Amino acid sequence: MKVAVIGTGYVGLVSGTCFSVFGADVTCVDLDLEKVDKLRRKISPIYENGLDDLISNQVDANRLHFTTDLKSAVQGADAIFIAVGTPPMADDGRADLTFVYQVARDIAKAITGYTVIVTKSTVPVGTAREIKKIISTENPDADFEVCSNPEFLREGAAIQDFMNPDRVVIGLDTHRAQKILKNLYQPLLYKDVPIIFTTPESAEIAKYASNAFLATKITFINEIANLCEKTNANVDDVSVAMGLDARIGSKFLRAGPGYGGSCFPKDAVALTQTGQHHNAPQTIIEAVVKTNNYRQHAMAERIIVMCNGDVRGKKIGILGVAFKPKTDDVRDSPAIVIIQNLQKMGARISANDPAAQEQATKILNDIDWRDNAYDVAQDADAVVVVTEWDDYKTIDLKRLGSTMKSKNLADFRNIYDANNARELGFNYISIGRM
Ligand code: UDX
Repeated sequence: MKVAVIGTGYVGLVSGTCFSVFGADVTCVDLDLEKVDKLRRKISPIYENGLDDLISNQVDANRLHFTTDLKSAVQGADAIFIAVGTPPMADDGRADLTFVYQVARDIAKAITGYTVIVTKSTVPVGTAREIKKIISTENPDADFEVCSNPEFLREGAAIQDFMNPDRVVIGLDTHRAQKILKNLYQPLLYKDVPIIFTTPESAEIAKYASNAFLATKITFINEIANLCEKTNANVDDVSVAMGLDARIGSKFLRAGPGYGGSCFPKDAVALTQTGQHHNAPQTIIEAVVKTNNYRQHAMAERIIVMCNGDVRGKKIGILGVAFKPKTDDVRDSPAIVIIQNLQKMGARISANDPAAQEQATKILNDIDWRDNAYDVAQDADAVVVVTEWDDYKTIDLKRLGSTMKSKNLADFRNIYDANNARELGFNYISIGRM
């Protein structure tokens, strides 16, 4: 099979590379010549464990190609995946489909013969139908179908999630399209991965509903954590007790500083906008968005309280800036909100992150970046764990505290033992437990 993937972000690049592992001949297209040039040199532009090697192997096997020329990539393709960004609109957070619709017009001009066009990007319900209209208008003779095949991969586990998904969701209208996509996903069918065939609308909603539900689960346990803090309960124990109920499940029940990343924040808001647009308000998700935004600011407030209500001129050490471990992505990371709030209150910030410093310096100013946690803690009035990198879990707390000006330790991911920290003389706070 000949496959074209338009857009080489997390979803496009991982999908294209993995489709080539499935045996398809894949050409990934991007407007960014610098990015395409790096990819041709088998260098991944994104930080994703194992992706460099996979790209290298597949390019060497001559099954994976990169180009800026959409027309050549699309001609003769059996399937074309649209995997370009759908960023939030600045005013109300609706998904901006400008790039998606532009690619649809470009595809319309270039397709030859029956082609299955698939939205891989996260797009609001109704987008597949809209793309069909755009292509039919641009090229009335085109023989094609528009399907929806949302991706559920997580950053930091992208290849594993693509190759071992809990399910594949495909929204389409005809058996002709189904045959082609079933053929492409054959390797997953061999592994008994469930493939759900439904309508494009159902597939589009399933993606947003899945992300919004996970964001809700996290926000739920974060609010329960607040109650635990007031009642001498332990949210980690509550989470385990809940999660053992098969109907609830233990995943995404870890309390923390609030969810972040390039998906949950934007997808949750986009879903509320879709609900408003169709007069089917998503009031629970509206509450989740508000609660999560408030929580990230409240985390900064906890640090200020820890420093006796005033951080002016004080040095606060931040451990972890990426929105989660195993990624360099800082988009909507709680750490960004916490740092900016503390700086506004006059604090001086030192920080460490094993991967995200380069990305973070594009957003944050006046940060004293340090190579390790101990250097961050030197002369600090407080140290804060915001991202639960493994590096921080094995820190020698006695050594960490020995150079701090005041031994204030805020653990927003509950990675340390509270009793041990306090025995070492720390004024220790964490999430949802005493
Ligand atoms: C998410 C979805 O998991 C994935 O299926 C979808 O395709 C894209 O969006 P991702 O954004 O990469 O993936 O990160 P994820 O691992 O889901 O974490 C999202 C946020 O939730 C992070 O900020 C993380 O710290 C937070 N989180 C996650 C918690 O606070 N508690 C948890 O128990 C789990």
